[in-house]
Amino acid sequence: MSETVLLVGGGGREHAIARALADSEAELHACAGNRNPGIAALADSFETLETTNPTAVVAFAEDVGATLAVVGPEGPLAAGVADALDDAGVYAFGPREAEARIETDKAFQRRFMREKSIPGCPDFETFEDVDAACEYIDEYDGDLAVKPAGLTGGKGVRVTGDQVTKEEAKEHLREEAYDRVVLEERLVGEEFTVQAFVASGQLRVTPAVQDHKRAYEGDEGPNTGGMGSYSDAGLELPFMDEDDYREAVDVLEATVDALDDYKGVLYGQFMLTADGVKVVEFNARFGDPEAMNTLPVLNTDFLDVLVAARDGEDLPQLSFSPKATVCKYAVPEGYPTDPSAGAKVAIDEESAADAAEDSEGDALLFYASVDEREDGIYTTTSRSFAVVGIGDDVAQAERVAEDALAVAGEEGLRVRHDVGTEALVQRRIDHVAELRGE
Ligand code: AMP
Ligand code: GLY
Repeated sequence: MSETVLLVGGGGREHAIARALADSEAELHACAGNRNPGIAALADSFETLETTNPTAVVAFAEDVGATLAVVGPEGPLAAGVADALDDAGVYAFGPREAEARIETDKAFQRRFMREKSIPGCPDFETFEDVDAACEYIDEYDGDLAVKPAGLTGGKGVRVTGDQVTKEEAKEHLREEAYDRVVLEERLVGEEFTVQAFVASGQLRVTPAVQDHKRAYEGDEGPNTGGMGSYSDAGLELPFMDEDDYREAVDVLEATVDALDDYKGVLYGQFMLTADGVKVVEFNARFGDPEAMNTLPVLNTDFLDVLVAARDGEDLPQLSFSPKATVCKYAVPEGYPTDPSAGAKVAIDEESAADAAEDSEGDALLFYASVDEREDGIYTTTSRSFAVVGIGDDVAQAERVAEDALAVAGEEGLRVRHDVGTEALVQRRIDHVAELRGE
């Protein structure tokens, strides 16, 4: 039977999902709040709608006769879009609202880890009162990660001793008037992501990726949704070994076992510390940018994974090209604190892809939160587009990404050019060696 897939979401991650499905025998229909030109070009139809409105998404799914759905972002998952699609008979690859709490409620996430004895849980306390949280910050002997329990697009966390003082962290809590807060021990180490496809109690893992959350080069500035990321030709990253990767996978396995019939992508954000692998957070979806590292090197047909998940069959074993990838985002000036939305941008997708031929790798361009209007492409308040370089090693992939960026046109936009550079990767390697006392 041929499948009709509904894709929910209009960012770079969803463009990567659309491209993964474009090679499959499926009809693709997409919906998002912004008209993403990359997705629109690949899909049979594209509808602009409020993706956190389950009724609107289900109506579109029924309209196009969807037999499957992939929900990209966390917002719709938190709003119960997967539940509504499932209930309407359209299998959603994405967890139901209750299961998505593993991402959408950080207090739930930590209590769940503690109750189910999931390895890698840092010491933490949860608060429902800002004053009590501030008092704890004052009394705690050491640095803390201060986290609003709800979704903040990756921008709500403050780490004392790193980006802010304890006074600034308290001010942030008071200003934003968060009603629920998690305070946890500050983890020191190198972060990495491992994403898994999950259904029927099974999971299939993908290569580790390192994202760069901070806005500016050299890991300075505020946290963002992610400025860029890289993966290596194997499962591990240059600063970790097989045992570290295995430890992360063990955490994901224990989590899937403890969750009630989770389906979709389970994303683990880990910190490789002097005491081993710890969990920074879970997400209930692909990472953005990490999906742009992972899906382009996935040789297994993504549609086969989706169909097996829906039909309750064994998930296929995954195969990946032995290639490294480097992804760099171009974001509006002022992102994330004061982004200049509504600027017209000229993005030359074809030249970006052609540029890679000169660097003997492959380059891909993914549109993100831009909006295509009749007279051109405009920025929104979020990330604009990304290039991904694919090469034999991280250094080559980085050169490919830079060559592609140079011709794609990043004028008026900002890029962290240090992502994936040899100097920065070496710093990660040295950092872990130092933590391990090597
Ligand atoms: P999250 O929104 O949970 O992804 O957190 C955003 C960023 O804050 C993470 O990517 C980390 O860099 C940092 N972070 C979160 N929790 C901790 C922690 N316990 N220790 C150190 N850094 C953390
Ligand atoms: N790259 C971080 C995230 O997707 O949340």
